[in-house]
Amino acid sequence: MSIALITGASSGLGRAFARRLSHDPAIHEIWAVARRADRLEELNTLCACPVRPIPLDLGKEDSYRALRALLVEADPDIAVLICAAGFGKMGDSTAIDPADNAAMVDVNCKGAMAVTLLCRPWLGRGSRVLEISSVSAFCPVPGVNVYAATKAFLESFAKGLHQEWKKDGVAVTAVCPYWIRDTEFIPKAQEGKPGSWHSFPLALTTEQVVDRALKDSARGKWLSTPGMVAAAAKVGAKLLPDGALAALLDRMRG
Ligand SMILES: NC(=O)c1ccc[n+]([C@@H]2O[C@H](COP(=O)([O-])OP(=O)(O)OC[C@H]3O[C@@H](n4cnc5c(N)ncnc54)[C@H](OP(=O)(O)O)[C@@H]3O)[C@@H](O)[C@H]2O)c1
Repeated sequence: MSIALITGASSGLGRAFARRLSHDPAIHEIWAVARRADRLEELNTLCACPVRPIPLDLGKEDSYRALRALLVEADPDIAVLICAAGFGKMGDSTAIDPADNAAMVDVNCKGAMAVTLLCRPWLGRGSRVLEISSVSAFCPVPGVNVYAATKAFLESFAKGLHQEWKKDGVAVTAVCPYWIRDTEFIPKAQEGKPGSWHSFPLALTTEQVVDRALKDSARGKWLSTPGMVAAAAKVGAKLLPDGALAALLDRMRG
């Protein structure tokens, strides 16, 4: 049985990937991971192939053991792995609850890394892995600093893995989108904290991100920058010093 395993499938980007990949004849089942079981169950009414809801909190280590046990039992071929589970909190780093700062590291870094590595025995030649990072990975971003740092980890992790797994025919892509407007991310991240971001011009849609990311993954690219802003940001981050970019971004928030 060939599956797509998608974390963060209960909403936003993960859900959009699930709906899209369910139409791929090479995929027989979607394994959908997130905390909200009802939202995962609902996917069965929205997808074109069966969906297996796997309610897990990816900030918790027990969850990695539970997911591994399911894989051992079913022994599927993972055709596509998408690590989209993640969240952010906006505001100055000290204005954010320390528990939220720690949870961002747990879910965005440790969760994505643990899920990806534990899936390796079920990824074969031709399998694809998409790590959903962010344009904020490209330089320090005041006002969303801890979140941006977690995404820098994920981008670097994905690119290193791309190189390590290339020889075995497993394509790993770091997906670094700019703001996406039709997900729960921005409203959950904005809590009116001092120093928050309030303006999201040229924000993308989930469909735009899914399109670009799947095309780039199919081409075996190690980096996907959906949308013109993300592509320009990548070039800007190569040309300009981090300090200048961070100062510019600091002036743009608030
Ligand atoms: N929206 C943007 O502007 C934007 C831009 C660049 C990158 N991204 C990245 O895109 C990814 C998807 O975000 P989104 O925009 O689609 O936001 P979203 O609608 O809030 O989706 C986030 C997903 O992550 C899951 N999740 C959060 N904490 C979790 C945990 N502890 N354990 C398991 N699952 C957890 C959520 O499910 P439950 O709540 O049910 O657990 C949900 O399915 C994230 O990694 C985000 O950093 C977003």
